[in-house]
Amino acid sequence: MCGIVGYIGDGDTVNILLESLRKLEYRGYDSAGMAIIDDKGKARIFKNEGEISELEAIVPEISSHVGIGHTRWATHGRPTTQNAHPHCSGNICVVHNGIIENYQELKSELISEGFVFISDTDTEVLAHLINKYYSDDLGLAVGTALGHVRGSYAIGVLSNEHPDELIAARKDSPLIIGLGKDENFIASDIPAILKYTNRIIYIDNLELISVKQGSVRVFDMEGNPVEKEEHIIEWDLEAAEKAGYPHFMLKEIHEQTRSIHETMTGRLHELEGDVNFGELGLDRNEIRQFQRIEIIACGTSYNAGLLGKYLFEGLAGIHTDVDTGSEFRYSSPVLAPSTLVIAITQSGETADTLAAVREAASYGCRTLAITNVVGSTISRDASHTIYTRAGPEIGVAATKSFTSQLVMLYLLAIHFARARSMMDADRARMLLSELRKIPGHVSRILEDAGTIHECASMFVKAKDYFFIGRNINYPVALEGALKLKEISYIHAEGYAAGELKHGPLALISKDVPVVAIAPQGHTYDKILSNIKEVTARDASVIAIVDCDDYCEIEKFADFVIPIPKTDEMLTPLLSSVVIQLLAYYTALELKCSIDKPRNLAKSVTVE
Ligand code: M6R
Repeated sequence: MCGIVGYIGDGDTVNILLESLRKLEYRGYDSAGMAIIDDKGKARIFKNEGEISELEAIVPEISSHVGIGHTRWATHGRPTTQNAHPHCSGNICVVHNGIIENYQELKSELISEGFVFISDTDTEVLAHLINKYYSDDLGLAVGTALGHVRGSYAIGVLSNEHPDELIAARKDSPLIIGLGKDENFIASDIPAILKYTNRIIYIDNLELISVKQGSVRVFDMEGNPVEKEEHIIEWDLEAAEKAGYPHFMLKEIHEQTRSIHETMTGRLHELEGDVNFGELGLDRNEIRQFQRIEIIACGTSYNAGLLGKYLFEGLAGIHTDVDTGSEFRYSSPVLAPSTLVIAITQSGETADTLAAVREAASYGCRTLAITNVVGSTISRDASHTIYTRAGPEIGVAATKSFTSQLVMLYLLAIHFARARSMMDADRARMLLSELRKIPGHVSRILEDAGTIHECASMFVKAKDYFFIGRNINYPVALEGALKLKEISYIHAEGYAAGELKHGPLALISKDVPVVAIAPQGHTYDKILSNIKEVTARDASVIAIVDCDDYCEIEKFADFVIPIPKTDEMLTPLLSSVVIQLLAYYTALELKCSIDKPRNLAKSVTVE
């Protein structure tokens, strides 16, 4: 996904921009570029298809006090050097995240006025438009140009006629300002500039910023000054680096002992048999009045949402539907103010989820965001927000953010169940105390990761995989298949085990490993039958089971991976760690690009 950085100050501008761009690599990109004003007042543009190291190779040593940089993830036009940002027109250079929806009509207009386009991008329209409206005030020209565009943007703009100023603006695409001592920064993401400053201003929609070496001034689009609050970011950079693991994904899988604990910290109220949810901003009465829950999310967060359905219905007795953001936003949802809409998104920036939440809000629904990123767009769009506190997740494959989302859904479902008198205090106490033990159980799974590595190696030649589960294990089956396909590129399907006989059984053969998520519970006998169905078709079975069932299941399965004993309801928290490790070690054996799988981005901020 695209990333923006900008710097103004007495530092080594080129290296600061390169270093900041490197911190955005985790978002995924296909080209990179920068524009700087050198000390002779000349704009110098460098861009290259490929990695930041390739950009670095073409940037000479230049003394400069101001510059903007960009990592591009192609949306309009191929990932070429020509299409890489910055895009320039006259003296004006622009970097842009987002999509200009009416760029075709603006482009035709600009061409008829004599502007010459050299790229296929929507961004180039912005550069020409700003140039068109420029007389002597860069901020005014940017504001006027943005008045003509439809779509989303976070932009950084510079001109060699204004070597002491950077202009930035945002609508529906994240942007922050970093405050330094005699220097300032712009960025689309906090880790980009955390090395230099932890003093941050979050920019809101339709704000325009003039950034100078010694000042930051924020305006609305009418030019009125806007007061902004400074935030201190407590993450240290160390937390965003690999800490000795070969991949962020493995580090993040291991961090789950801590992240799951963090998600629960201060929220478990075992004495009362309830959850402390002060930050939720919904009292018991309001919770009782909801007649339905609609969960909206994408990808892994959607799989978490599916588990949420089982929890809200099974524990709190409230009808729950789950939809992906991309489907929901173009459906004809039947929503009423008595529907609570829950949006789950790690990044808080997923365009489809954000659009769906706005759609839901237009029906008068309360919207509750479950997100990992403080200050993210969803946290400002939703009427209520709770944070998963999983810490920054760099690997494109969601791991610790997923288990923290699950924990959050358990806590919410228990809280709702208590408020609606669907669960007595004893049952709640029991679940909460079992939840408290989960980090310890996860530690034990991690200690035995070697067994899962052995399993992954055994089936590494498979071209297709199936993951099956029933009831609360079904979302884990979906997540297992998603994890495996996204990082190992092996085709994998997640299925509700009872559905196999309605079609996919035709694909089961001796070459297809079937991962059965089969801990003890009310559907255990059923999945045992499903395991027998696939072994009868010569498939190899990898069974994820309670440690107590090891001996029994060994008779039917080719590989057994035990998980520690916990309440049936909570087993997805443990089996999820197993499927993450299975995907990780398979991708490792296949020498795949684990942290940055092909074609994928961490944060999907375009539709
Ligand atoms: O940031 P979000 O949770 O909204 O992201 C949604 C999906 O793009 C994301 O969960 C994706 O499926 C995972 N990175 C896959 O591991």
